[in-house]
Amino acid sequence: LPKACIFDLDGVIVDTVPAHFVAWKAMADELNIPFTEVDNEQLKGVSRTESMKRILAMGGMTKSNIEIEEMTTKKNHIYVEIISKMTPDDILPGVVEFLDLLDDNNIAIALGSSSKNAPVILEAVGLAHRFPVSVDGNQIAHSKPHPEVFLLGADRLGLSPSECVVFEDAISGVQAAKRGNFKCVGVGDSTVLSEADVVIPDMKNIDLTIFDNL
Ligand code: G6P
Ligand code: MG
Repeated sequence: LPKACIFDLDGVIVDTVPAHFVAWKAMADELNIPFTEVDNEQLKGVSRTESMKRILAMGGMTKSNIEIEEMTTKKNHIYVEIISKMTPDDILPGVVEFLDLLDDNNIAIALGSSSKNAPVILEAVGLAHRFPVSVDGNQIAHSKPHPEVFLLGADRLGLSPSECVVFEDAISGVQAAKRGNFKCVGVGDSTVLSEADVVIPDMKNIDLTIFDNL
């Protein structure tokens, strides 16, 4: 068994993927840049500023840093408006049961998220106390696929990457885990997350056998 599991937040612990998409789509619409859920897949795990730059690049546009800052602030207002209504009902199915199972087996639990909103979201859904080690977008310089967020998590756990398993729904997040020498469970579509060591469709009904094939 691993000594710890490090979880991504958005799309693994809580169902915020649609809210991010709606907010980015609003910004893309304003710029007349076509933006679909398929495009959004590439932005999962990527920081706010980098996401904005990628949307601009999709439209062949460039903007000054000040304009990018204004647009990301606006996007975040739309996003925060949506997530401010979050409750424990927005925890993805199976998550609480799996965290309980890890606790019962003395496997440590940590968060590794690119989101600056992570602390607010964990509070809103009542899970803050389940993540004594929590690394988020406020604490890192390099967004996924850079492994910094997970390396810092392992460091705070006092463990090496090989002792931890990362759970990720984003292509960039799986890449970050692998670059950091972590084992990685992909959560979602196995064709999209093909770089993960094992892929599960969602967090439902996971037991300790998940660690057998890593
Ligand atoms: C996560 C999400 C991304 C989001 C990023 C930054 O990685 O998957 O879609 O852009 O966090 O989130 P923030 O809440 O800081 O804008
Ligand atoms: Mg995610």
